[in-house]
Amino acid sequence: MSRSAHPAGPRHADVLPEGHYTAPPTDLNALDSKVWSRTVARNADGAVTVGGIEVARLTEEFGTPAYILDESDFRARCRAWAHAFGPDADVFYAGKAFLSRAVVRWLKEEGLNLDVCSGGELTCALDAGMPAERIAFHGNNKTVAEIERAVTVGVGRIVLDSFQEIARVAHVAQRLGKRQRVQIRVTVGVEAHTHEFIATAHEDQKFGIALAGGEAAEAVRRALALDGLELIGIHSHIGSQIFDMAGFEVSARRVVGLLAAVRDEHGVELPEIDLGGGLGIAYTSDDDPREPHEIAKALGDIVTRECEAAGLATPRISVEPGRAIVGPSAFTLYEVGTIKPLEGLRTYVSVDGGMSDNIRTALYDAEYSVALVSRASDAEPMLVRVVGKHCESGDIVVRDAFLPSDLAPGDLIAVPATGAYCRSMASNYNHALRPPVVAVRDGQARVIVRRETEEDLLRLDVG
Ligand code: LLP
Repeated sequence: MSRSAHPAGPRHADVLPEGHYTAPPTDLNALDSKVWSRTVARNADGAVTVGGIEVARLTEEFGTPAYILDESDFRARCRAWAHAFGPDADVFYAGKAFLSRAVVRWLKEEGLNLDVCSGGELTCALDAGMPAERIAFHGNNKTVAEIERAVTVGVGRIVLDSFQEIARVAHVAQRLGKRQRVQIRVTVGVEAHTHEFIATAHEDQKFGIALAGGEAAEAVRRALALDGLELIGIHSHIGSQIFDMAGFEVSARRVVGLLAAVRDEHGVELPEIDLGGGLGIAYTSDDDPREPHEIAKALGDIVTRECEAAGLATPRISVEPGRAIVGPSAFTLYEVGTIKPLEGLRTYVSVDGGMSDNIRTALYDAEYSVALVSRASDAEPMLVRVVGKHCESGDIVVRDAFLPSDLAPGDLIAVPATGAYCRSMASNYNHALRPPVVAVRDGQARVIVRRETEEDLLRLDVG
């Protein structure tokens, strides 16, 4: 996703500093459908609407900052993934990207399954009525209490992440008189081309059991020997925000290689493989993500081909997209506060949120785009850095972008593609109140996660 520094632009053309930006867009009022959810549009007055509702109305009712989640867009993406993979595969939405009870209900209605990775996510899923058999339970360090709960409620699968966990889950299942369906998460030695902190399938990291050196084969041996476990397949997740399908192809090939080795050694054909999540989305107009049907075809073809070559029946495939479903479905709405032009550098635009509602820019150098949404403007573009209100200079929401030079305090701006890993990674830094999630659909808006209050903060602080 590297973008070259581009010193061209109609304003300050001779003095634009180094940065990760391309030339200013020709039309700052345009809303690129790659980064905005599908019901977002500008009305005749130039204001942005979502689900038919003007953003100023949302602000009046719900305040700023706020995450605005386009329910129709979310549901359409669920359907696109379910349809692309078809009845012979399973799509598990990765709840870590964003989870709430409303979202669980939507997933259930749209026929998706759910991947959870903590007792808290499991509680949310069950409370909202997701059938336990449609839940996969992940994590590199599940507690015994979490395992007991997952086995007791009957989750569809537990994804085993270590040798100790194989023994732990088997022990719990046996004690509870159950046989738990499990997959083994393997690391396939693929390092997806993405930020180091969010690449997970190379060997030097905490997740999974390495294929290399025969560890994964040993894990299968142990799991098959334990009465409390029903080994249904192999799992691999290679990283995040990946555009290049080559990593998935290598992963699929290696996982199928393990299935063949298991068949040869044990005479058992494991019936499922899970290729994880990690499919990239467009955060800026420079990103070109693949469509679900292209991804499904690429993965299906490679698995079928490799299985044919190995003389295996094609296993049932599952995938776990989180970001690719919820990421593009939401934007964060902010009110502009202080505007500080730094001559010869850029203009700092401070908003009423920041790293407490979007840590991704600070943590991963993530790139975002931004637009003025309360009105249209024909003013010249100015190079801006959108920053938050926190006491930290790394408190950046959008590192480099262009906004109209007549931007003024009180304007509303929105950062698109913030549906994934923003609310779920939000914090109370500086005693910030985490923003609400407002779901919008067909002219109706409703809060699905309310704004925190100062009372909420004080309630936890028991003196
Ligand atoms: N499956 C497993 C086993 C995972 O670990 C993850 C993400 C997913 C599925 C979903 O991946 P997705 O399709 O959403 O990329 N906080 C980081 C992302 C961490 C992802 C962790 N695991 C970020 O904000 O980019």
